[in-house]
Parts: sequence; structure tokens; C-alpha cells
Amino acid sequence: MKNTVATFKKAKQDGKRISMLTAYDYSTAKLEDEAGINGILVGDSLGNVILGYEDTISVTVEDMIHHGAAVARGAKNALVVVDMPFMSYQCSVYDAMHNAGRLMKEGRAGAVKLEGGREVAPQIQAIVQAGIPVMGHLGLTPQSVNAFGGYKVQGKDQEAAQKLLDDARAITEAGVFSLVLECVPSALAKKISQSVSVPVIGIGAGAGCDGQILVYQDMLGMFSDYTPKFVKRFGEIGSAMKTAFQNYIEEVEAGTFPAGEHSYGIGNDLIEKLY
Ligand code: KIV
Repeated sequence: MKNTVATFKKAKQDGKRISMLTAYDYSTAKLEDEAGINGILVGDSLGNVILGYEDTISVTVEDMIHHGAAVARGAKNALVVVDMPFMSYQCSVYDAMHNAGRLMKEGRAGAVKLEGGREVAPQIQAIVQAGIPVMGHLGLTPQSVNAFGGYKVQGKDQEAAQKLLDDARAITEAGVFSLVLECVPSALAKKISQSVSVPVIGIGAGAGCDGQILVYQDMLGMFSDYTPKFVKRFGEIGSAMKTAFQNYIEEVEAGTFPAGEHSYGIGNDLIEKLY
């Protein structure tokens, strides 16, 4: 069944948990889609796991369009959400609308996601009014890593916890259809999920959220630069890939690959006539 923002809304009403994963290319999106995932996020984490940057700051709108369109071609039923990268929406409502429009038209997104609370409410409102569904992102918002001074759990004291709850209410009021809550204590995430009408998708936010998301390379053991505490490995695909690569190298070096069944034939007489 095709997942839409209406499906997400109904899932929250029915108490049905929403599953999301990231993807950045056609083949992975197709596999996740065939597995029955509800939503695919083309996250700006592509800066880390695909492009090898140390953070998401350098990711561009063009990067997101390129990868968003590839994912959209592979996802038949999942809702495809494409991240608005750093500085594509913070400066002005005009920038936010222009870039959200490009992600929809050129990146074939079903919705866009942007980071921040009350301060980006005008951007959210304007994008939503243009007919583009917006997903919010609160808690540890990686585009603000330099302001946070590192990747840290958010909302740990009274004031910070209250601000997160207020921000969740503010962006819900502004029109988000859902929001991601990253790296916050479980009890706070549960309280926020119960306090807003839209589905809260957690990552490092405990089981009390309305849904969960993970970066697919993390849950498959394909990215070893660092592993956050909240990641569970659902597969060991990274080591399976490395073993397969080693086997391939050995067979190429030994001359045992390609074998006859991997090769194309031609009559010997024809070869013999060549001069
Ligand atoms: O960019 C991303 O992958 C994200 C998820 C971590 C939620 O924003």
C-alpha cells in the first residue's frame, strides 16, 4: 500500500508504529521498499556515510536532488522524505520555499525535512502553504553540531527539556506532518510524543515514540567510523561485503574467475580464421 502523509497521520491515530530507514540510491531504496518500510529518508547523513565528510555541513541542494531522485525511482510504496541541507532554509522564507520546491520538482520528494524549532516555524508554515509536506527534526540536529560542541544527548535539564517540548508544539502548530526526535532521553521523547498530534519518529529516543528511524549503514554494520549507542545491528552486511570482495580478489588473482559459465562463446573455426 502506498504510504503518504495521510498514512502517517492514521498510523498515529491507530497506535500503529511507523518504520523508517535512510537510503541514498535506487537499489537500496528498492530493497527497503520491497521489505515494506513505511518511509525512506534521503538524509543529509549522506554527507557522512556516502560522501565521507565528517559532518553534514557541506551537503548541497544539488547532492540532495541527485540522491533524492534515485531513491524516488526505487521506492514505489514508501513515502520519500528528502532532507533540506544546511543553509538551504535558515536564511529566509524565500530560500526555504525555493529549495523545498526544487527538492520536490527535481528530487521527486514526497515531503521535505528540516531541522529546528520555533525559529524555523515561518519557513515551515510557508512551505506547507505551498502544498509541500514538511517533517520537522528536533533534539540532536546534526546541522548545529558546531553550536552544540559535538554530538550529545539533548534535553537533559529542565530548561532544555521544556524547550524541546515547546519547540515540538510550535512546529506542529506551524504545520509539520511528523517530526524526527534525535538523541533525547526516552521519558522525554515519550512525553513529547504524547503531547503533539503528529507522529514522532525517534532515533536514539527510546520506544515511546510513534515510529523509529535508523541510518541503514549503521543497522547493517556497513559504517565503522563511529557507532552511536542507539544503533542496533540487524545484519552484518559490512563484513559479508568485505569477505565477498576478498574472495573476488583471490579468484581474479588465481585466474579462477571468470569461469566458463560467466563467459561468452564463439566458434573456434572463426577464431582460427583471424589473422
Ligand atoms: O540525515 C539523516 O539521516 C537524519 C536521520 C538521522 C534522522 O536526519
